Amino acid sequence: MVCAHPHGPSRRQVLTWAGAGAAALTLAACSGEEDAPPPEAGERLVGLEEIPVGESVGVRTRKGAEVVVTRVTEEEVVALSAVCTHQGCTVRRETTDLACPCHGSRFDPTDGTVVQGPAEEPLPRVKVRIESGAVVTA
Ligand code: FES
Repeated sequence: MVCAHPHGPSRRQVLTWAGAGAAALTLAACSGEEDAPPPEAGERLVGLEEIPVGESVGVRTRKGAEVVVTRVTEEEVVALSAVCTHQGCTVRRETTDLACPCHGSRFDPTDGTVVQGPAEEPLPRVKVRIESGAVVTA
């Protein structure tokens, strides 16, 4: 399968090239997720009341980026790209980790570090702040 890619390589594609070779690149390029630009500052992602402390929710930005927001404490949230750094599937909260359904990678929801491979790179952080009871991109 060949996918036309209208833009240059994203950071994640470069990581994919470095980490997993051409087959992984083909999958990543076809997923469409890497084309979503980072969210603009000031975009409301989710209401704080929608995330129980210690839990995570997945959201999609206006421009289509998949983000997972974790409420670490009452007043602290962490947002990460939900795009697995292995081959681009979307991770979701499962027990205490963010889990990738494709090949089983697991990530720490509080900082994106890899808990279990095959992914080798952490989930990139998305800068956010709490504003008027909502999680907003910073
Ligand atoms: S895409 Fe392979 S583990 Fe996530």
